[in-house]
This record gives sequence, C-alpha cells and structure tokens, in this order.
Amino acid sequence: MNLWATKSIGALRAEAEATGEHSLRRSLGALNLTTLGIGAIIGAGIFVLTGQAAAQFAGPAVWISMIIVGIACTFAGLCYAEMASVVPVAGSAYTYSYATMGELVAWIIGWDLVLEYAAGAATVGVGWSGHLVDLLKNFGIVLPASLTNAPTAWCTADNVTQAVAACAHSGLNLTGALLNVPAVFVVAVMSTILVIGIKESATVNSFIVIFKVAIVLLIVAVGLAHVTPANWHPLIPKNTGTWGSYGWSGVLRGAGLVFFAYIGFDAVSTAAQESKNPQRDLPIGILGSLAICTVLYIVVSVVLTGMVPYAELNGNAPVAYAMEKVGAPGFIRVLIDIGAVLGLASVILVMLLGQSRVFYSMSRDGLLGRWGARVHPKFRTPYISTIFTGVAVGLATGILPLQLLGQLVNIGTLLAFVLVCAGVLILRRTRPELDRPFRTPFVPVVPILGIVCCLGLMATLPGDTWIRLIVWLIIGLGIYFGYGRRHSTLQRELGAGR
Ligand code: ALA
Repeated sequence: MNLWATKSIGALRAEAEATGEHSLRRSLGALNLTTLGIGAIIGAGIFVLTGQAAAQFAGPAVWISMIIVGIACTFAGLCYAEMASVVPVAGSAYTYSYATMGELVAWIIGWDLVLEYAAGAATVGVGWSGHLVDLLKNFGIVLPASLTNAPTAWCTADNVTQAVAACAHSGLNLTGALLNVPAVFVVAVMSTILVIGIKESATVNSFIVIFKVAIVLLIVAVGLAHVTPANWHPLIPKNTGTWGSYGWSGVLRGAGLVFFAYIGFDAVSTAAQESKNPQRDLPIGILGSLAICTVLYIVVSVVLTGMVPYAELNGNAPVAYAMEKVGAPGFIRVLIDIGAVLGLASVILVMLLGQSRVFYSMSRDGLLGRWGARVHPKFRTPYISTIFTGVAVGLATGILPLQLLGQLVNIGTLLAFVLVCAGVLILRRTRPELDRPFRTPFVPVVPILGIVCCLGLMATLPGDTWIRLIVWLIIGLGIYFGYGRRHSTLQRELGAGR
C-alpha cells in the first residue's frame, strides 16, 4: 500500500471530461458560479457574527478584522482559482490533495471538508430556524419551543453560571424539546431542489442572492443615515486584561470569529463538473464572489458599529436591534428577517451542494463505497450522495447539540485552505509544465502568505476546538484504515500494475 500515491492529473481531467448519462450536467456559466459563491457566503456571519465580534472582541474595529480575513481569504482564493483551473473536478480541495499530496492527505481533507460543508449546513439550519421563528412572530404566529429546538444542548460551566435556558449542568443536557422541525424542513427542501437539478438549484439560488444583496444594500443605506460618528471612538477599545477582548488581540480574535462570514467562496469549486467552461469560469466565480462580499462586509461593519455603541451588539439579531434602536421604520426589521431566512436558505443549499459533490468524488475513488457515485439518469445529479447528505445533515440540525460543531466549521475550513495553498506550491514544483488557465500571482509568496494567515487565524481559535478537530481527524483515520484504503480504486490499479 502506498499511502502517498497521487492520482494523475491526466486521469482526473479525463474523468471530468467524460460525457453521457452517467456524467453530471454542464449547465453553469460564470454568472451562475459567482452567484453560487455569494449565495454560500452571505448568511449568518454578516447578519449575526459581525455585531457579536464587535461587542465581545474587536469593538468598532471589527471592520479591521473583516479586512484581515478578506486578505487571508484572497490568498486562499487565488490558490483555489489556480487549482480549480488545473483540476476542474467536483472534489475540490479533496481532489487537489489527491493529485498533489497523495491518498492519505486527500482522505484527511475530504473528511475535514465534512466539517465545513455538512457541519456548516447543519449549523446554519439552526440559525435559519431561529430567524423563521422571529419572522413569524411579526405576523402573530408563535411556533412551540418544543418543535423549534433540538432535544440536546451542550453547555459550558459559564453557561450554567449565566443561567442559560436548558443548561442545568455543564456537558450534555436534555432540553425537553422534541425536534428542531424548521431546521429539518429547510434541509429537506434544499436537498430536494439539489436532486432535481443543478440548473434549477442555481436559479433558486440566483433569486435569493438578488434579494439578499438588495437587503444588505438597504441596511447600508438606512444605516448610513443614522450613523453617530462618536460610536466609532475609540476605534480599538482598551484591552480588558484578557487576551482577545479588545485591543489588537481582540481584533485578531474577532477575525477568527468573523471568518465564518467568508466561508463559501470555495464551494464554487465543487461545481467544477457542472460548469460549462470550468477552467475560465471557476476562477471568476471564486474570486468574483469573494471580492463582492468582502466590500459589502467591510461597509456593513463600518455602518453597523456607527449606528449604536458596539457593546450593545451582542444579541442574536444585532442588525435588527440596531435598526430598532435608531428608530428605522418597522418594516425594515421584517425585511431583514426575510433577508436572513432566505439568505441562510441559500447558504444551506450551496453547502449541501458542496458536501454531496465531495462525497461523490470520494465514492468514485472507492474510498467511501461506490453508492455515492451514482448519477440520476434523468436529473443528472449525484442523487444518492445528495440524499445521504440531506438525511445526515437533517438529523444533525434537528437533534444534535450544535454548540459542539459550530466552531469546528471555522477550523476545518481553514485547514482545507492551508492544504490548497500547499497544493499550489507542490504542483508548481512537481508539474511546472502543466497548462494553468489561471495562475496564482507571485508564487511562492501568495501561497506561503495564505498558509501563514490561515494558520494564524486557526491559532486564534479556542484550544478545545483544536482538540475536537484532532478527535474528528482520528475518527476519520480509523475509517480510512478500516475501509477506504482497502477499497481504493487507485490502490487497486497500482496493485494490478505491479
Ligand atoms: N458564510 C456563511 C454564513 O455566514 C457560512 O452563513
């Protein structure tokens, strides 16, 4: 067994170019890919985390956190764009690692991407449910708590001290609820759309994106009229004596948190085999969506912290709170809720898309069993891996204590970014002659900076997140050595060739 065996780029390209009823349908253009990216990026992060990061860590300087993350993501995005143009295959970071660092690393990163896409979708599902409950309240409809919360909650000692509902003791608690029905519902609907077709999924996503970008612009326009410049002073409040609470360390810690808001541009690369001209359009989709969202995020964070004192932005709906506080008309709050409900739905859609395509690629390579590689003869979508993803994410979002998973999404994604940047460095060395329709500029500087920035952001995350990541990866290694390695198509081919 050669754990470092790599898949040849030629074989990968041939696989991606195969046509016929067992291949995915190529129907996405540059605009679809860019809107898919925006659909995945704008979500809970901007609507909720920006305010919380300002209140707890960075103060009005949260826009500096946004810029720091924007720069880190640009380095990673440039590397994704090169890899996606060289290896335009659905597996994204998983496949890039297979082509550069070998099967074991590829498996690790494929397993790690579950944290980004599946755990990300499940986490956003819970947020979606919360926004729906709020939205319906505006219309006098109250959903019972037992059907809008998970039956389990994970509590820290701090939660118990602060008397957080459902936290009787630290560790696993039963909440008395039955199931988070809205969260399961949204995952089921998005999975169904994904099974029906990639074109249909892209169309639904595009409508949502138009609406949510309009809401973000509305927030900026209304917010600008209510800015009190005194709220921006001091820009970086004094450190409270604890690392990460205001001061420059707070700006960095804030960056680690708001990173979540940027997650999603990389999901564009998982649509490689459904793109009409992937080598040209994937870089446009990845970098275009990232650029648009970075600008929007910086502007929103400046405006939001100008509207109300930063310390007041710690609630579950900071943007809506700020609007109420400055006396904006009531319908704006309803529009923000609608924007959040729709916006989070498209994040879930694209995250589920990403996860199902990664499973599809891993199945094709034999590492997960062949089931996931089946393509629906009529819809031409990887329907089994999509349904499997939908059921798993639906169960997680409806039942599990997602406090455990939420932070893992950031660390898991950052690890994937590090490996994609490393992949560019390796491939430039091992296959300098390859045709690269998009070339990352200033190699090796940009990939190295990408690695350093992403590792730096990982370092700002709490220690127990690292422990959970390591436990997750150990479970993955158990599955690989117990199953994947023995069923790998590449290992079989290598064995036969010997
Ligand atoms: N970037 C996505 C969000 O903020 C994951 O919801």
